[in-house]
Amino acid sequence: MRNIDTIAVIGTGTMGRGIAQTLAAAGYTVLVFDQLAEAAHAAVEFAGQMLDRAADKEKMTRENAQAAKGRLRVVEGIGDLAPAQMAIEAIAESLDAKQALFAALEGILSADAVLATNTSSLSVSAIASGVHTPGRVIGIHFFNPVPLMKVVEVIPGLRTSDTARDAAMSVVDRIGYRAILCKDAPGFLINHAGRGLLTEGIRIVQECLASEADVDCVMREGAGFRMGPFELLDLTGLDVSYPVLQLIYGQFHQDPRYRPGVHLAARVAANLHGRKTSEGFYRYDDGRRVDPEELVPAEAKLPPVWVPTEMRSYLASIMESLGALGVEIANSPDNAVCLVAPYGWDATETAISMGLDPAHVMGIDPLTLDSARVTIMPTLITDPEMCDGLHRALLATGKKVTRISDSPGFISQRVLAMIVNIGCEIAQMQIASPADIDDGVRLGLGYPKGPLALGDSLGPQRVLDVLDALQRQTGDPRYRPSQYLRHRARLGMALAG
Ligand code: NAI
Repeated sequence: MRNIDTIAVIGTGTMGRGIAQTLAAAGYTVLVFDQLAEAAHAAVEFAGQMLDRAADKEKMTRENAQAAKGRLRVVEGIGDLAPAQMAIEAIAESLDAKQALFAALEGILSADAVLATNTSSLSVSAIASGVHTPGRVIGIHFFNPVPLMKVVEVIPGLRTSDTARDAAMSVVDRIGYRAILCKDAPGFLINHAGRGLLTEGIRIVQECLASEADVDCVMREGAGFRMGPFELLDLTGLDVSYPVLQLIYGQFHQDPRYRPGVHLAARVAANLHGRKTSEGFYRYDDGRRVDPEELVPAEAKLPPVWVPTEMRSYLASIMESLGALGVEIANSPDNAVCLVAPYGWDATETAISMGLDPAHVMGIDPLTLDSARVTIMPTLITDPEMCDGLHRALLATGKKVTRISDSPGFISQRVLAMIVNIGCEIAQMQIASPADIDDGVRLGLGYPKGPLALGDSLGPQRVLDVLDALQRQTGDPRYRPSQYLRHRARLGMALAG
């Protein structure tokens, strides 16, 4: 493999400037080109300021920052890129533009130079089909902001040579980033894996089971995610995220697992794009999110609480807390609030299958019981006094409480099962190795665990049960379990391998 010391970065907007900075900091000479000369100069100036700031913060020495700045060279014409052994393009997301650029570079760079694309949504194989030497075209997909997101997807197209793949892997290795090798599939690995959180959150709100803020609070404070789906959509901007949701759904030929939901189009049209327009799913006041008030339950007296025998073990701590508040624990369901904690089943089905009076049943999500926030759900006919009484009592134990409408899988089970299932499907399709799937998702999406490790911590059989139950109650093939999950759950094997 030819030694690479000089890399061309073409297109110096949000991504190109970060890529150029990162490569220069790692010791590469970087030839910087943009169709707008002033954009290239601005990018190099910006990268220089970032390197100085890194030196100020003692993240690198002043000498190294200075040397890195010296390695960033703006070139005025595309012909000046000839000395580069690799080109990384971060120009507009257009197949025609990228093919035209690579066709031009083919005639300028040496025959063994690697042509890398930072495309986020186009097929690497399709881009490569526009050149005479597709073997040297590869995807090197960085994440925004590049200097902070230390993960890169390396995506060989169908005709990419091993030499180009190894060259890309070695560059990613030298900059100290985690290289995730993945197939040229829609959304590659990381954007594909991110569909679960977004689309299931959207689905729950579309079904009017909970508000956007409810879903975000449960995913953050109940399930330990840094951000819920709607905060994230507001941050990235719905004008950017919605087309990606539609694109991946289309690329998978309308597989219902990736269905984007129906109420986003109107929001995009109404200019409610998120933080950047001061209103999205939330309103922003001087850039600060305005959270809706939490529901305050009415004054109500809580009757004795009864728990089915088979659910007593995992409801023990909550019952102890309620007992400490003086709540009476009943020995029989008669005239009591029947507290049930189902996996995958809604409160109605649970009541009926257990022979309980649905007017006395309250569901509580067993998955997030130990967290700061618990989720409760009545049936359509649960006595409001019981509902408010339980809500108040749980608040008095020091927990935050989210109350949702009756739904199979509450919020956390649905969303987590979807994330695990899509991670499993990525593994089933061998888009990436199990280790790369988990590391890619943790580093690229900031989830507390990768989807396979998450599935292992929940228990593969439990995730399978939740999905099976969701599919039975909704009839929606969206919840069909991946064969990767089903086989491993049935055989008692781990998902992460
Ligand atoms: P951007 O719009 O900020 O910058 C694009 C730059 O390319 C502009 O400076 C423009 O003048 C220049 N340009 C356009 N056509 C050109 C051509 N034919 N020759 C030379 N320069 C040209 O775009 P951004 O956001 O940096 O995205 C660039 C690429 O990176 C796209 O393919 C995008 O899908 C991908 N990407 C973007 C991410 C993001 O968060 N913005 C994340 C990961 C990938």
